[in-house]
Amino acid sequence: MREGNTENPENTQQVHTMGRRNFLSYLLGFSVFTTLAGVLTPIIAYLIPPPSGSDGGGNRMLVGTTQDIPVGHGEIVSYGSQPVVVTNTPKGVKAFSAICTHLGCIVMYEQDRQIIKCPCHDGLFNAVTGEVISGPPPSPLPPIPVATDGEDIYIGAA
Ligand code: FES
Repeated sequence: MREGNTENPENTQQVHTMGRRNFLSYLLGFSVFTTLAGVLTPIIAYLIPPPSGSDGGGNRMLVGTTQDIPVGHGEIVSYGSQPVVVTNTPKGVKAFSAICTHLGCIVMYEQDRQIIKCPCHDGLFNAVTGEVISGPPPSPLPPIPVATDGEDIYIGAA
């Protein structure tokens, strides 16, 4: 003889219905959870700032060597999320924010004239001082701390 409610077809039907309901409840809960996680994760990531140093917040960072950027050359490097133009001049290695002070375009180093140039409106900057030579930029490129250790070039505060 069998035990319990499994002999009665109505009870068996009820057991299957409860199983389906539970399954659908779990499925609905999982869907709500994944939807909320998908919406909230980018919002939380946006609201919580990245750790200091990963966004140009002050940590010293090796960006190359004087072999990579010899005298008379310049290069755009990333300092966290900040673009920086590093120039190796006869007066030493210099670094400036690579964001043009006019409308925010990324500048470039022009080796032929050994100047920093903004391609958007032909703003020209001095590669040694960051001062505006000509064009619409209203102010110099902000300097970034730079240091050499042997051939290594570091930017950011020590
Ligand atoms: S954005 Fe650089 S000169 Fe206009």
